[in-house]
Amino acid sequence: MLAPYVRGFLRAGLVWIVIGVTIGFGMAWWPAEHLAFRPAHAHANLLGFVSMFLFGVGYHVLPRFTGMPLSESQARWALRQVWIQNAGLGLLVGGWLSRPYAGELGRWLIVAGAPVSAFGIGIFVAIAWRLTGVGDRTGARPPGT
Ligand code: HEM
Ligand code: HEM
Repeated sequence: MLAPYVRGFLRAGLVWIVIGVTIGFGMAWWPAEHLAFRPAHAHANLLGFVSMFLFGVGYHVLPRFTGMPLSESQARWALRQVWIQNAGLGLLVGGWLSRPYAGELGRWLIVAGAPVSAFGIGIFVAIAWRLTGVGDRTGARPPGT
């Protein structure tokens, strides 16, 4: 059974890689028209797929490594992060895709998407930092100890 924030991040990662690869195809086939989409492609793939999939995997495995589940408030923030992270990346990618056609609007979408995305990442850092700091409550001993 996957926690809703784990499923949310894994599914979001899958959606973003489809978007990222689709933009990649556009750049590969019609570079003259689409090479300006490179940051949209890079972030859909790296922030959308690589990072979001890692957030999902991290939220799933870290509590299992330590035997220390997320607290109720951490779980609430993790679920909020799913929405915040996707909204932030939606703004960024929307901005990078529209910038070549609607320069100012695209720029403002990117300016808005940056702090929203950074805030989402901050939530993960705060929770994962605490999870990696707790002692091992699984009873398992690391090899060699
Ligand atoms: C079928 C899949 C993909 C296609 C067709 C594709 C295509 C491309 C193309 C045409 C470029 C522009 C290269 C240039 O500047 O001339 C590019 C750049 C890039 N791609 Fe992909 N890509 C694919 C998958 C991925 C994936 C899965 C990732 C990351 C996980 C990725 C990360 C990047 C990054 C970071 C850049 C920018 C590199 C730089 O800063 O110069 N791509 N891709
Ligand atoms: C808060 C989150 C992030 C923000 C606001 C952000 C913002 C930016 C901006 C403004 C650029 C320059 C785009 C341009 O050429 O106009 C850029 C480039 C780049 N970023 Fe990020 N970034 C973020 C997270 C990440 C993450 C997590 C990764 C990798 C895991 C990443 C990888 C890259 C790469 C590879 C490029 C070069 C793309 C290219 O070749 O066009 N970024 N980023």
